[in-house]
Formats: sequence, C-alpha cells, structure tokens
Amino acid sequence: MKLSSVVKAFGSLCLLLADGLPVDEDRAPKIIAPDHNKIKTRPGKQLFLPCDAFTKSEDDATLIYWLVNDSFPEDLPSSDRIVEEEKSTLKDGAIRRRLQLKNVTSEDFKSSFTCVVMNTAGMDQKHIKLVATSGGSHGGKKRKHSMSIP
Ligand SMILES: *[C@@H]1O[C@H](CO)[C@@H](O)[C@H](O)[C@H]1NC(C)=O
Ligand SMILES: *[C@@H]1O[C@H](CO)[C@@H](O)[C@H](O)[C@H]1NC(C)=O
Repeated sequence: MKLSSVVKAFGSLCLLLADGLPVDEDRAPKIIAPDHNKIKTRPGKQLFLPCDAFTKSEDDATLIYWLVNDSFPEDLPSSDRIVEEEKSTLKDGAIRRRLQLKNVTSEDFKSSFTCVVMNTAGMDQKHIKLVATSGGSHGGKKRKHSMSIP
C-alpha cells in the first residue's frame, strides 16, 4: 500500500523511536470508526466521512488526518469541494476528524480515501471507497457490508 512521503517519514521516525524504547502497544492509536470499507452515496450528495480514533497517549501529539488518493485533500484540484474539518475531541475521549465532500462527483467513486492516525507509540489507518447506490431505484437495495451516510 502506498502512503505519502510525509507518512513514510513519520513512520520511520516511529520505527526509530520504537527501536530504542520498549514498545507500548496500548498507547498506539486505534481507529474505531468508520468500521466499514465502503460507503454508499450518490453524485450530487453532500457527504461527511467521519474518522474516530482512540488514543491513550497522554500528550496532544496524536495526528489524525485524511488522504485522498494518497495526497492531502488541500493539495488536490478538488480542494474547494473536498475539505477536512478540524480535529475535535468526543465525550468519550476519542478524537474525530471529518472529511467533507460538498458535492459528490462520479470521480469520487474512483478515489481512495484514507484516514491516518499516528503518534510516537504507533499508527493505524483505514481505507475507504465510495460505492454508488444501485442505479435507478431511489436508495436502492440494502447491501450487507456497506454503510450509507445520508
Ligand atoms: C454538484 O455538481 C454538479 C455537477 O458539477 C452540479 O450540476 C450541481 O449543481 C452541484 N450541486 C451543488 C449543490 O453544488
Ligand atoms: C483519484 O484517482 C482516481 C484514479 O486515478 C481519479 O479518477 C480521481 O479523479 C482522483 N481523485 C481526486 C479527488 O483527484
């Protein structure tokens, strides 16, 4: 799997740190949502992709961000349409960052969306693909293994 060079650089830093220190698996961040790899939507819709993660790291140094086609959303031509929200903290202590697709286009079904969470204890990532709701009928058939966000 491909990652941006920034991720690679940070990843090697983590390995470097992990080399010299006892690895603390518990402190590594863990993505808890989305728990599906496919999200159903339709062109023309607004869509929020939430990424929620737990981290036991004491510090505030856990990074959470989205990549679109392995690039930062703001670096792509679609940057006015696909926007990352700021990181927030949920009641249960999980951190959240949402990617907003203001107007889903047919191109988005070819894109890969990746949420990445990392701190010095480790990293986790989740790959998401959009799938078009089955054509014609409104909403279409419900498929198992996929999740629909209005
Ligand atoms: C979404 O994009 C389509 C195609 O470019 C356009 O026709 C439509 O007006 C857009 N909708 C919104 C809400 O911007
Ligand atoms: C992501 O890559 C796919 C396949 O190369 C392309 O069709 C799509 O437009 C790209 N998405 C964005 C947001 O640039």
